[in-house]
Amino acid sequence: MSTESLFQPLKIGRYTLAHRVVMAPLTRMRATPGVNAPNALNAEYYGQRASKGGLIICEASPVVASGTAGPNVPGIYSDAQIAGWKLVTDAIHAKGGIAFLQLWHGGRISHSSLQPDGGVPQSASDIPPSGGMVLGADFKPHPFETPRSLRTDEIPALVAAYGQAAKNAVAAGFDGIEIHGANGYLLEQFLQSRTNKRTDSYGGGIENRARLMLEATKAAADAIGADRVGIRLSPYGRANDSGEDDPMPLYSYVIGELNKMGLAYLHLIEPRASGAGQREVDHQDVPSGCETVRPLWKGALITAGNFKSENAAATVAKGHADAIAFGRFFIANPDLPELIRRNAEFRPYDRSTFYGGDARGYTDYAPLSAAAG
Ligand SMILES: Cc1cc2nc3c(=O)[nH]c(=O)nc-3n(C[C@H](O)[C@H](O)[C@H](O)COP(=O)(O)O)c2cc1C
Repeated sequence: MSTESLFQPLKIGRYTLAHRVVMAPLTRMRATPGVNAPNALNAEYYGQRASKGGLIICEASPVVASGTAGPNVPGIYSDAQIAGWKLVTDAIHAKGGIAFLQLWHGGRISHSSLQPDGGVPQSASDIPPSGGMVLGADFKPHPFETPRSLRTDEIPALVAAYGQAAKNAVAAGFDGIEIHGANGYLLEQFLQSRTNKRTDSYGGGIENRARLMLEATKAAADAIGADRVGIRLSPYGRANDSGEDDPMPLYSYVIGELNKMGLAYLHLIEPRASGAGQREVDHQDVPSGCETVRPLWKGALITAGNFKSENAAATVAKGHADAIAFGRFFIANPDLPELIRRNAEFRPYDRSTFYGGDARGYTDYAPLSAAAG
């Protein structure tokens, strides 16, 4: 099986990737506690996974402290965090890689122990996720709390925070940013009808529900240039108790508006994959995200979810997507692009070390490609 389709250059915004094997954003909860700033261990991890002309999308990072959706996640709102991220971007650039940072606000997927004021998390409406648990500051699972509905007069500052976070990312050496509009976090909580019961200009019809996502994206694009801003969406996703019964009318509108902005790329999560890779495979009987979205989107399209070499190469060869992002296998295979190029086996990942901890399951996966010949 040839994987040649993945080793052709690809233009995304102002950059040209040397290959189409992208590292997906992966929350690992190993930033320095207290300051939520990246550190030398994080830089080593990302540096191990960088390759010449390869795109690395660094893990979801809150744009404000109240957007924190887990313990020890790195933020992008303080000077200490900018300095910490500089270690990471230097390590990626040292190997010729291209570094984007995913901008995040968890909304109701948070816990009062993670909130700067100890209050309840915020969302579009005061609707808690049904079932499930969230890791609190103590790294223990807690039941979700009922979030507070954001006031209309709080929204301009939130939108501005996306612009400021994009600027902070560039100050930290990032080549661009990705708006996290997927997996049931704040922007999706506003977008989808099950979580948004607002009666102001940010709730109600599709245009109103999409407003916050589009304003946040535009704020980032205005701050650093649309050609270094991407966005991630999960139209058929069910992560974190999200999901729209009839997603395409909503997402057709959103993608149509995003097209007008001239962004670097759109990044999808395939509906067959659980949003955050919690299960091995699920949702088999749903349409392929890239096949349904491809006709709507005018720019570069990245997709992710349960890819290995063969289906990744075929997806790009058929033109269903331009690049493939890998999550779990990039955790366990720091030299993943090289393994794919050589058509070599991947090392399995260890789920128990995904979130939190130290170097184990993080920087101790040795490259396999030397052995693979
Ligand atoms: C440990 C872990 C952390 C993740 N963190 C994020 C994240 O920060 N942002 C995001 O958009 N997706 C996140 N995801 C989802 C992945 O980016 C990816 O979409 C998913 O794992 C499916 O791809 P895969 O089958 O190649 O793993 C995470 C997944 C895992 C397993």
